Amino acid sequence: MDWGMKNRMARIINPKTGRAVMLAFDHGYFLGPTHGLEVPRDTIAPLMPYADTIMLTRGVLRTSVDPDSGANVVLRVSGGTSIVGADLSNEGLTTSFKDAIKLNVAGVGISVFVGSDHERQTLLNLAELVNLGEEYGIPVLGITAVGKELEKRDARYLSLSCRICAELGTHIVKTYYCEEFEKVTGSCPAPIVIAGGPKLETEMDVFEITHSAIQQGAVGVDMGRNIWQNSHPVAMLRAVRSIVHENNNPKQAHDLYLSLKSDESRKIASA
Ligand code: 5RP
Repeated sequence: MDWGMKNRMARIINPKTGRAVMLAFDHGYFLGPTHGLEVPRDTIAPLMPYADTIMLTRGVLRTSVDPDSGANVVLRVSGGTSIVGADLSNEGLTTSFKDAIKLNVAGVGISVFVGSDHERQTLLNLAELVNLGEEYGIPVLGITAVGKELEKRDARYLSLSCRICAELGTHIVKTYYCEEFEKVTGSCPAPIVIAGGPKLETEMDVFEITHSAIQQGAVGVDMGRNIWQNSHPVAMLRAVRSIVHENNNPKQAHDLYLSLKSDESRKIASA
């Protein structure tokens, strides 16, 4: 691996812990102003200090994150579809590599839709991005998207999708947590981070999937809704971070969440 690639990988996966806390704010590229992300700057600013990298589109980056904020960015570079359109899998590349370089990104991210009508197109988009990533020293995050078919998230399907991403040269794979997750990590030679998916019922559910994913070989998270749709997003992120980087168990993370949440409420009450 060349210096530039290694340097950028170290901005995403912390070399001290070998783990990654990525925070996803890219949902608007197909969901529009989704709940919790209506005004991106307001959502992103308080969370940024506790994320190793933020993942978002160039539009939100340029309008809603200050260039001197010190943020490490993984840029979403695929899209072209919307939640009300015919087919979420029909994605293309939305952002040139030149623009990603101008934005000084730590990495670029793209979705693939294995088994969909646009499997070939999305996989070839990923391969093309890896070619460019290797040329310019920029890691590529391959995202095993399922569109509206959330029931696809099982070990058989996710192992297939993750392995294909790794075979095409993806530097990091983002997928979902599932039962028998060790089958997914065990057959994917690239490091894996998990998305959270739609908001889970309880905070403990989030801490449990994060902890189990790490125990079963994931290097971290690239979460969105389960952090910033929570009523105490900073407390939530710091608790998830404690699992990823400090090996906290779900109960320790939950205790931390509760104490940060009550500190926050006290501050608001005394303001
Ligand atoms: C959409 C994405 C999202 O960034 C990803 O799903 C992470 O967010 P969440 O934790 O809300 O699922 O890649 O395709």
